Amino acid sequence: MRFMAIAGAVAALTATMALAQDFEALVDERQQGMKDMGSAMKAMGPIMKGETAYDAAAVHEAAQTIASHSGETLVNWFPEGSIDVADSDAKPEIRDRHEEFAALARQLHDYALALDAAADAGLGAPGEGGEADLGALLGTAPAEDAFDIETASADAIYGEVGKTCGTCHKTFRVDDD
Ligand code: HEC
Repeated sequence: MRFMAIAGAVAALTATMALAQDFEALVDERQQGMKDMGSAMKAMGPIMKGETAYDAAAVHEAAQTIASHSGETLVNWFPEGSIDVADSDAKPEIRDRHEEFAALARQLHDYALALDAAADAGLGAPGEGGEADLGALLGTAPAEDAFDIETASADAIYGEVGKTCGTCHKTFRVDDD
Protein backbone atom coordinates (compact mmCIF):
# COMPACT_ATOMS: atom_id res chain seq x y z
CA MET A 1 0.00 0.00 0.00
CA ARG A 2 2.63 2.36 1.13
CA PHE A 3 4.77 1.58 -1.89
CA MET A 4 1.78 2.17 -4.13
CA ALA A 5 1.10 5.53 -2.49
CA ILE A 6 4.69 6.63 -2.93
CA ALA A 7 4.82 5.35 -6.48
CA GLY A 8 1.59 7.18 -7.17
CA ALA A 9 2.90 10.40 -5.67
CA VAL A 10 6.13 10.13 -7.66
CA ALA A 11 4.19 9.49 -10.85
CA ALA A 12 1.95 12.47 -10.17
CA LEU A 13 4.92 14.69 -9.42
CA THR A 14 6.73 13.54 -12.55
CA ALA A 15 3.61 14.22 -14.60
CA THR A 16 3.32 17.71 -13.14
CA MET A 17 6.95 18.45 -13.90
CA ALA A 18 6.62 17.10 -17.42
CA LEU A 19 3.56 19.25 -17.91
CA ALA A 20 5.31 22.38 -16.69
CA GLN A 21 8.17 21.63 -19.08
CA ASP A 22 5.76 21.11 -21.94
CA PHE A 23 4.23 24.49 -21.25
CA GLU A 24 7.63 26.16 -21.17
CA ALA A 25 8.35 24.75 -24.61
CA LEU A 26 4.92 25.86 -25.77
CA VAL A 27 5.48 29.37 -24.43
CA ASP A 28 8.78 29.52 -26.34
CA GLU A 29 7.04 28.28 -29.45
CA ARG A 30 4.20 30.79 -29.29
CA GLN A 31 6.52 33.70 -28.49
CA GLN A 32 8.65 32.73 -31.49
CA GLY A 33 5.50 32.46 -33.59
CA MET A 34 4.43 35.94 -32.48
CA LYS A 35 7.90 37.27 -33.32
CA ASP A 36 7.62 35.75 -36.79
CA MET A 37 4.34 37.63 -37.26
CA GLY A 38 6.05 40.79 -36.00
CA SER A 39 8.78 40.35 -38.62
CA ALA A 40 6.16 39.75 -41.30
CA MET A 41 4.38 42.99 -40.39
CA LYS A 42 7.67 44.86 -40.33
CA ALA A 43 8.61 43.54 -43.76
CA MET A 44 5.32 44.82 -45.19
CA GLY A 45 5.39 48.24 -43.51
CA PRO A 46 7.40 50.24 -46.08
CA ILE A 47 5.66 48.44 -48.96
CA MET A 48 2.21 49.35 -47.65
CA LYS A 49 3.23 52.94 -47.05
CA GLY A 50 4.53 53.19 -50.60
CA GLU A 51 8.06 53.89 -49.33
CA THR A 52 9.52 51.02 -51.34
CA ALA A 53 8.48 49.48 -54.63
CA TYR A 54 5.47 47.22 -54.35
CA ASP A 55 6.58 43.62 -53.92
CA ALA A 56 3.72 41.14 -54.32
CA ALA A 57 5.92 38.13 -53.53
CA ALA A 58 6.96 39.66 -50.22
CA VAL A 59 3.33 40.42 -49.36
CA HIS A 60 2.29 36.84 -50.19
CA GLU A 61 5.05 35.47 -48.00
CA ALA A 62 4.26 37.73 -45.06
CA ALA A 63 0.50 37.14 -45.33
CA GLN A 64 1.05 33.38 -45.41
CA THR A 65 3.26 33.57 -42.32
CA ILE A 66 0.48 35.35 -40.46
CA ALA A 67 -2.17 32.98 -41.82
CA SER A 68 -0.25 29.94 -40.61
CA HIS A 69 0.27 31.43 -37.14
CA SER A 70 -3.31 32.59 -36.52
CA GLY A 71 -6.74 30.99 -36.24
CA GLU A 72 -6.79 27.65 -34.44
CA THR A 73 -2.98 27.50 -34.36
CA LEU A 74 -2.94 30.65 -32.27
CA VAL A 75 -5.80 29.48 -30.04
CA ASN A 76 -4.04 26.16 -29.42
CA TRP A 77 -0.89 27.97 -28.28
CA PHE A 78 -2.76 29.05 -25.14
CA PRO A 79 -4.24 25.97 -23.44
CA GLU A 80 -5.43 26.19 -19.85
CA GLY A 81 -2.37 25.97 -17.58
CA SER A 82 -0.01 27.58 -20.07
CA ILE A 83 -1.37 31.02 -19.34
CA ASP A 84 0.25 31.43 -15.90
CA VAL A 85 3.77 30.32 -16.86
CA ALA A 86 6.20 32.80 -15.32
CA ASP A 87 8.02 33.86 -18.50
CA SER A 88 4.80 34.50 -20.36
CA ASP A 89 3.06 37.80 -20.97
CA ALA A 90 -0.27 36.05 -21.42
CA LYS A 91 -3.01 37.47 -19.21
CA PRO A 92 -5.64 35.48 -17.26
CA GLU A 93 -8.25 37.21 -19.42
CA ILE A 94 -7.39 34.60 -22.07
CA ARG A 95 -9.10 32.09 -19.80
CA ASP A 96 -11.89 34.39 -18.59
CA ARG A 97 -12.83 35.83 -22.00
CA HIS A 98 -11.79 32.92 -24.17
CA GLU A 99 -14.50 33.37 -26.82
CA GLU A 100 -13.36 36.93 -27.47
CA PHE A 101 -9.72 35.81 -27.61
CA ALA A 102 -10.49 33.00 -30.07
CA ALA A 103 -12.62 35.35 -32.21
CA LEU A 104 -9.66 37.73 -32.59
CA ALA A 105 -7.36 34.84 -33.50
CA ARG A 106 -9.82 33.74 -36.21
CA GLN A 107 -10.34 37.28 -37.43
CA LEU A 108 -6.58 37.58 -37.87
CA HIS A 109 -6.62 34.39 -39.92
CA ASP A 110 -9.44 35.70 -42.16
CA TYR A 111 -7.60 38.98 -42.71
CA ALA A 112 -4.31 37.20 -43.48
CA LEU A 113 -6.00 35.02 -46.11
CA ALA A 114 -7.69 38.09 -47.60
CA LEU A 115 -4.34 39.88 -47.71
CA ASP A 116 -2.76 36.93 -49.49
CA ALA A 117 -5.62 36.99 -52.02
CA ALA A 118 -5.32 40.77 -52.53
CA ALA A 119 -1.52 40.81 -52.75
CA ASP A 120 -1.29 40.76 -56.56
CA ALA A 121 -3.68 43.69 -56.98
CA GLY A 122 -1.43 45.92 -54.92
CA LEU A 123 -2.15 49.15 -53.13
CA GLY A 124 -5.48 50.91 -53.27
CA ALA A 125 -6.14 54.32 -54.72
CA PRO A 126 -5.50 57.27 -52.40
CA GLY A 127 -8.38 57.55 -49.99
CA GLU A 128 -9.07 53.86 -49.95
CA GLY A 129 -6.18 52.54 -48.03
CA GLY A 130 -4.33 52.67 -44.76
CA GLU A 131 -1.99 55.58 -45.20
CA ALA A 132 -3.74 57.66 -47.81
CA ASP A 133 -4.95 60.81 -46.15
CA LEU A 134 -5.92 63.06 -49.03
CA GLY A 135 -9.34 61.42 -49.33
CA ALA A 136 -9.85 61.82 -45.63
CA LEU A 137 -8.92 65.50 -45.86
CA LEU A 138 -11.32 66.04 -48.72
CA GLY A 139 -14.01 64.10 -46.95
CA THR A 140 -14.20 61.62 -49.79
CA ALA A 141 -12.61 58.69 -47.98
CA PRO A 142 -15.03 55.93 -47.18
CA ALA A 143 -15.95 55.77 -43.52
CA GLU A 144 -13.86 53.35 -41.56
CA ASP A 145 -16.74 50.95 -41.04
CA ALA A 146 -17.11 50.71 -44.82
CA PHE A 147 -14.17 48.30 -44.82
CA ASP A 148 -15.13 45.37 -47.01
CA ILE A 149 -12.81 42.40 -46.86
CA GLU A 150 -13.92 41.19 -50.31
CA THR A 151 -12.95 44.35 -52.16
CA ALA A 152 -10.35 45.99 -49.92
CA SER A 153 -6.87 46.73 -51.24
CA ALA A 154 -3.77 45.12 -49.76
CA ASP A 155 -2.84 48.20 -47.73
CA ALA A 156 -6.35 48.54 -46.31
CA ILE A 157 -6.32 44.90 -45.21
CA TYR A 158 -2.83 45.34 -43.82
CA GLY A 159 -4.22 48.14 -41.66
CA GLU A 160 -6.94 45.85 -40.31
CA VAL A 161 -4.38 43.11 -39.62
CA GLY A 162 -2.34 45.54 -37.55
CA LYS A 163 -5.42 46.66 -35.63
CA THR A 164 -6.27 43.04 -34.83
CA CYS A 165 -2.79 42.43 -33.37
CA GLY A 166 -3.17 45.57 -31.27
CA THR A 167 -6.70 44.83 -30.10
CA CYS A 168 -5.70 41.41 -28.83
CA HIS A 169 -2.53 42.64 -27.14
CA LYS A 170 -4.41 45.42 -25.39
CA THR A 171 -6.66 43.01 -23.53
CA PHE A 172 -4.79 39.74 -23.46
CA ARG A 173 -1.10 40.51 -23.21
CA VAL A 174 0.85 42.10 -20.35
CA ASP A 175 1.98 45.51 -21.53
CA ASP A 176 5.61 45.45 -20.44
CA ASP A 177 7.36 46.96 -23.42
C1 HEC B 1 -5.74 36.65 -30.21
C2 HEC B 1 -4.69 37.40 -29.57
C3 HEC B 1 -3.44 37.83 -30.30
C4 HEC B 1 -3.35 38.24 -31.61
C5 HEC B 1 -4.44 38.37 -32.65
C6 HEC B 1 -1.96 38.58 -31.80
N1 HEC B 1 -1.24 38.38 -30.66
FE1 HEC B 1 0.75 38.74 -30.41
N2 HEC B 1 0.63 38.11 -28.47
C7 HEC B 1 -0.52 37.68 -27.84
C8 HEC B 1 -0.19 37.23 -26.50
C9 HEC B 1 -1.19 36.71 -25.47
C10 HEC B 1 1.19 37.42 -26.34
C11 HEC B 1 2.04 37.04 -25.11
C12 HEC B 1 2.53 35.59 -25.32
C13 HEC B 1 3.40 35.08 -24.18
O1 HEC B 1 4.29 35.84 -23.71
O2 HEC B 1 3.21 33.93 -23.77
C14 HEC B 1 1.68 37.98 -27.61
C15 HEC B 1 3.01 38.33 -27.85
C16 HEC B 1 3.46 38.93 -29.00
C17 HEC B 1 4.84 39.36 -29.23
C18 HEC B 1 5.98 39.26 -28.23
C19 HEC B 1 6.64 37.89 -28.38
C20 HEC B 1 7.81 37.71 -27.43
O3 HEC B 1 8.94 37.99 -27.84
O4 HEC B 1 7.58 37.33 -26.27
C21 HEC B 1 4.89 39.90 -30.49
C22 HEC B 1 6.11 40.49 -31.20
C23 HEC B 1 3.56 39.79 -31.07
N3 HEC B 1 2.72 39.19 -30.13
C24 HEC B 1 3.23 40.18 -32.36
C25 HEC B 1 1.96 40.01 -32.93
C26 HEC B 1 1.60 40.48 -34.25
C27 HEC B 1 2.54 41.21 -35.21
C28 HEC B 1 0.29 40.15 -34.43
C29 HEC B 1 -0.59 40.37 -35.63
C30 HEC B 1 -0.08 40.04 -36.93
C31 HEC B 1 -0.16 39.50 -33.21
N4 HEC B 1 0.88 39.44 -32.32
C32 HEC B 1 -1.45 39.04 -33.01
C33 HEC B 1 -1.78 37.65 -28.38
C34 HEC B 1 -2.11 37.94 -29.70
